[in-house]
Amino acid sequence: MSIRKKISRKRGDSVGSCRHHGGTSSRDLLDFSAPQNPLGTPEIIRELVRESVAREDYSRYPDYTYRRLREAIASFYKLDYESVVPLNGGSEALYILVLSLRPTSLVVFEPTFGDHRCLAESLNLKIVSVPYIESGERYEFPIDRVDELRKTADRNSLFILSNPNNPTGTALSAKQVVRLLNALSEFVVVVDEAFFELCYLCDEVSALKLAKSYENLVVVRSLTKTYSIPGLRIGFLYTENGDLLNAVESSRAPWNVNSIAEAVISEALEKYSSELRSFAEKSKAVIRKESTYLERGLRLLGIRVYSSTAPFLLVKHSTPTSEISKKLRELRVVVRDASTYPYLTQYHARVSVRLRSENEVLLGAYRRVVENATPSES
Ligand SMILES: Cc1ncc(COP(=O)(O)O)c(C=O)c1O
Repeated sequence: MSIRKKISRKRGDSVGSCRHHGGTSSRDLLDFSAPQNPLGTPEIIRELVRESVAREDYSRYPDYTYRRLREAIASFYKLDYESVVPLNGGSEALYILVLSLRPTSLVVFEPTFGDHRCLAESLNLKIVSVPYIESGERYEFPIDRVDELRKTADRNSLFILSNPNNPTGTALSAKQVVRLLNALSEFVVVVDEAFFELCYLCDEVSALKLAKSYENLVVVRSLTKTYSIPGLRIGFLYTENGDLLNAVESSRAPWNVNSIAEAVISEALEKYSSELRSFAEKSKAVIRKESTYLERGLRLLGIRVYSSTAPFLLVKHSTPTSEISKKLRELRVVVRDASTYPYLTQYHARVSVRLRSENEVLLGAYRRVVENATPSES
């Protein structure tokens, strides 16, 4: 099909119609729809952004080799600097990997975050969707299906999973990740650890530590999540596979990380590493406490809550989420309708964990909505 035909076939679709993400730009609403660090942006980073703007860093190109940024990331995370690829947020990894590896299919464990389906549709890639297993009040990773997937997947498949997973909050242990990497040694496996630094129940061993032993492994990290800087856009990809690194480097846009993010994150990681580590520890402690508080409060209201290890909770209402979220919005609170995720229903929603005073507002709003709602079949 010609390019012209491909474009005209899409005319009439609204922009990004296959995309569904949380987040609201309205400052009047209390946003529980975008999962982030409830502590917000650390003061160190705010100050460095102000300094960067004062220096007018935005008026120059970033260093397209990102040497300083790579070195700062490598030193902070104890990695090999040549194997670090800075990203415009963790979400950029999917696009770069698909462009550089040209897989014929994407194997994804769903429900999960990402634009895999959008991308697959536009590039005619096959999607192999493997469901998480709902087991009581939690979702489990389908680890026992891995051997079967190895046998049935196309030779040129790219496997992608998130640890911990958004929106189920499921975490894999390092042992499970190792089992997966061994079973899928003929395939490239992407482990997206966007929320790892905020995951209060994750294994201490990140997949970053496995990269030396597994050439089929690509790890993705998002600093956007850890430091609550989604507008700054910063993450990185890590693999010790030299061929893969070369392919990724050739597919990366030359200035994919902007000059403010480049300067701020380089300096923050170089000069304030212990402060940033304490911030991440404090964040995890707050998330653990507030997650327990929210979970209990929502359950007392008769809402089903799935156990999570990350700064958000997957919930299931007894009336459609569209009705609940409309009423919550009238009370100036926004949650993420999760019905757009594969395998979830019109009754599911994702709720971010925020600070106590904000969580109280959420529970108060839910109480008012749920007590006036008539349950339907779910
Ligand atoms: C699992 C996962 N990976 C990546 C991202 C995107 O992160 P970033 O803002 O760094 O692109 C998200 C965002 O919610 C996510 O849930």
